[in-house]
Amino acid sequence: MDGRKVMLLTGASRGIGHATVKRFAREGWRIITCSRQPFPEQCPWGGGREDHIQLDLGDPNATIRAIDEIKSRLDGKLHALVNNAGISPKGEGGARLNTIDTDLRTWGQVFHVNFFASIVLARGLKDELSAAKGAVVNVTSIAGSRVHPFAGAAYSTSKAALKALTREMAHDFGPMGVRVNAIAPGEIETSILSPGTEKIVETLPLRRLGQPREVADVIWFLCSDASSYVTGTEIEVNAGQHV
Ligand SMILES: NC(=O)c1ccc[n+]([C@@H]2O[C@H](COP(=O)([O-])OP(=O)(O)OC[C@H]3O[C@@H](n4cnc5c(N)ncnc54)[C@H](OP(=O)(O)O)[C@@H]3O)[C@@H](O)[C@H]2O)c1
Repeated sequence: MDGRKVMLLTGASRGIGHATVKRFAREGWRIITCSRQPFPEQCPWGGGREDHIQLDLGDPNATIRAIDEIKSRLDGKLHALVNNAGISPKGEGGARLNTIDTDLRTWGQVFHVNFFASIVLARGLKDELSAAKGAVVNVTSIAGSRVHPFAGAAYSTSKAALKALTREMAHDFGPMGVRVNAIAPGEIETSILSPGTEKIVETLPLRRLGQPREVADVIWFLCSDASSYVTGTEIEVNAGQHV
């Protein structure tokens, strides 16, 4: 093992996760990634292939089993856990799934990936996080605090729950020296966006989409010493969409 700080990042293959890998790699961190697909050949980074764990976070048993595998790759310390993987299923033709027509199985799947995986990983790795006085960042969403025209009800309620989980975890992990925060992106240019987002963007105070690297910078802040007295909060990264 080397002296680099270590981060575990879920959903690193695209979008915000991918930008986060680049940000932390630039700072000299080692990044252990997990997502459903094998290591992305089109965007390799040093040591990335060996540090990738193929895992479906929608399968709770597989997520629990993966804890031992992750521990075996750590030197007893985990400096950051970033729960970024998320899914936002749509209905036919991209329709928004509301509270009336979202079937329970879909709802459950969304909660496993977007919500339960975060606490399974965090508590499974609490000793390593505590040993490093590490930080947890949960990636929530603006949809967690208001009805959104494209994000469905399962997605939105999972993100609201993840925000509440952030508060609960900050309370429980704080005495171990572990900080727990959330970031709530607005409209960020990734594959998760729906057609029609340009109409929303016209109404934002800053009048533009966000770039994944602008979200990665805030994740970096929350994992760095610059935020050493910040815990239990959610930072909105949304061009003022909430005002
Ligand atoms: N883009 C936005 O405007 C926006 C706004 C608000 C919040 N967010 C949140 O930001 C986070 C990242 O979003 P993004 O836009 O970057 O999404 P994205 O481009 O769709 O990427 C999602 C990532 O999650 C992984 N993932 C999905 N299902 C998984 C599963 N079952 N198990 C393991 N990994 C899984 C994917 O990798 P695999 O396909 O390899 O599994 C991928 O790396 C999400 O939590 C999202 O809800 C995004």
